[in-house]
Amino acid sequence: MQQSRVLLESDIHAYLKQHANKRLLRFITCGSVDDGKSSLIGRMLWESKMLFEDQLATLRADSKRVGTRGEDIDYALLLDGLSAEREQGITIDVAYRYFSTDLRQFIVADTPGHEQYTRNMITGASTADLAVILVDARKGLLTQTRRHSILVSLIGIRHIVLAVNKMDLVNYSQRVFDDIATHYQAFAAQIGIPHVTAIPISAIQGDNLIEPSDQTPWYSGPCLLQHLERVEIDTDHLQAAPLRMPVQWVNRPHHEFRGYAGTLASGSVKTGDRIRVSPSGVQSTVQRIVTADGDLDSAQAHQAVTLTLADELDISRGDVIAAADSPAPSARQFEATLVWMGEPAMLRGRDYLMKIGTRTATATVMRFKYKIDVNTGTHLPATALALNEIGVVDLDVDRTIAFDPYDVNRDTGGFILIDRISNDTVGAGMIRHSLRRADNIHWQAVEVNKASRRSMNQHHSAVVWFTGLSGAGKSTLANLLEKRLHALGKRTYLLDGDNVRHGLTKDLGFTAADRVENIRRVAEVAKLFVDAGVIVLTAFISPFRSERRMARDMMEAGEFIEVFVDAPLAVTEERDPKGLYKKARRGDLKNFTGIDSPYEVPENPELCVDTSLCTPEEAADLIYQRLVEIGLLDTMSSTPPTRS
Ligand code: ADX
Repeated sequence: MQQSRVLLESDIHAYLKQHANKRLLRFITCGSVDDGKSSLIGRMLWESKMLFEDQLATLRADSKRVGTRGEDIDYALLLDGLSAEREQGITIDVAYRYFSTDLRQFIVADTPGHEQYTRNMITGASTADLAVILVDARKGLLTQTRRHSILVSLIGIRHIVLAVNKMDLVNYSQRVFDDIATHYQAFAAQIGIPHVTAIPISAIQGDNLIEPSDQTPWYSGPCLLQHLERVEIDTDHLQAAPLRMPVQWVNRPHHEFRGYAGTLASGSVKTGDRIRVSPSGVQSTVQRIVTADGDLDSAQAHQAVTLTLADELDISRGDVIAAADSPAPSARQFEATLVWMGEPAMLRGRDYLMKIGTRTATATVMRFKYKIDVNTGTHLPATALALNEIGVVDLDVDRTIAFDPYDVNRDTGGFILIDRISNDTVGAGMIRHSLRRADNIHWQAVEVNKASRRSMNQHHSAVVWFTGLSGAGKSTLANLLEKRLHALGKRTYLLDGDNVRHGLTKDLGFTAADRVENIRRVAEVAKLFVDAGVIVLTAFISPFRSERRMARDMMEAGEFIEVFVDAPLAVTEERDPKGLYKKARRGDLKNFTGIDSPYEVPENPELCVDTSLCTPEEAADLIYQRLVEIGLLDTMSSTPPTRS
């Protein structure tokens, strides 16, 4: 403080420079109100605010003279620090607080400690370098302490401060403190946290927060603020690591040069360096390193730059520019740790949007390996992940992406998942490693193809996808339509829920997860039929928008004709052809669609028929007319009909 005032008085420019270059420490506090978390944060803010406001007052006075608005600096840095969340698109509530001392600027993420706020804690921790974990000296290590430690360790935090609070209530007993610290050290070692600093404090009395306390003469370590100011966060490994720059955008101003803009996630780059782009593998040489303040000879990790290359290459947003001799690995299947943040559970087989670095892709969980009990760290079997659950999964991505394992680089190994219908952030993930098996499966190019089969059949192929409640009339209509098409010499195949569930999907029941898998398999089979040149009719409840969308996206434009077979629940229940509604009402049949399992009405089907308002023949005729209208039954040209 004194030091900076001297500097302030003598050289405002030097002061501003020092201030702007002050390193930023992002940390998270974990604990509950009972542990004294609010008092702790309040106290630090209060102390530092005094320092901070004092500086600002002087700065304001001086800034007039030098024409600089001193207070802007801190807020700019703060916003800069928070842009990571905006970039990632995470929208979970976390309170961030900002304070600054002579040596450092701080952003504290403050999240509630209860298990139902796991996703908030993960969000807050995702950009933090250090965690302050509070325990009450009277209570020692609790389940919650272990949970917080497991979570911050999972998210890649390597530095923990164990703040043993309320030392005043245990008479500043060294034995109590040592006991807690020793137990915690052992636990931290077990879960792989390398750096733990235990500090005896009293948030209320202020012991060992800002200044060493007289009450703990037996403690010779740093006080909390001092530790936070001085702790060396080893981001050095990122500087020393090979170059990774996810391309944020491609710049073509005035056709003067083509530049690739982004922030170095690791390593460094010099003009003349050889680079290789992942996943395409193309190589070139760095020509210029352009910034708003002019060209540089070199740039380091965390710097935002625009690179120009010696060759005209096809590089786009999401590609990763890497050192030619240490290229970023790329793959399309991964083992990943996943924190589920969505209200609807994560289901195997469902498609989610994945944002990794600057790239967006579509990802699906192929397999749940296990979920992690966040209170004990033990592994449990899993078939889905509910809100706040954490699991390890095998992930399939719809394209090859460049990555690094998360524990090597949080920027290139971390990702979020977004629900495609609601657009909510529903998961945060960390890549553990790629799965090799996908590397060895290649698409086999065949010469007899969809076009040649269609041409032999003399008609287009597509899937007519019937969806609706049980008893709405899907099978009846599909059957009538198939008879009619067959009579006209069209090649058809009917996939009907009740029949397919005797074979292809006989291992599946009616939970949400099983229905997702049911529809995924059916959609894959339907796709093969379309490729075989056949008009395939599917009659499945297919209650979820998400999977109908997935089925649609698997086909080419015009190949998916969604027919919503509508009928009021009262009518389908009245029909009750198999007596299942009665059973469901009696409580003898669980998860029955329309009763205790949802049906999501199609938003934009190609056709909607209400079977309570017409006869089955009339409805089938309507559908037939629609197929004629969209040209599905036209004699062949090899292009698919367009959707009207
Ligand atoms: S879907 O939801 O996964 O698309 P699908 O169409 O394959 O369901 O199977 C629905 C048929 O299974 C119904 O017509 C009905 O005969 C039978 N069924 C048995 N249990 C249920 C249930 N809990 N919910 C809905 N249908 C059920």
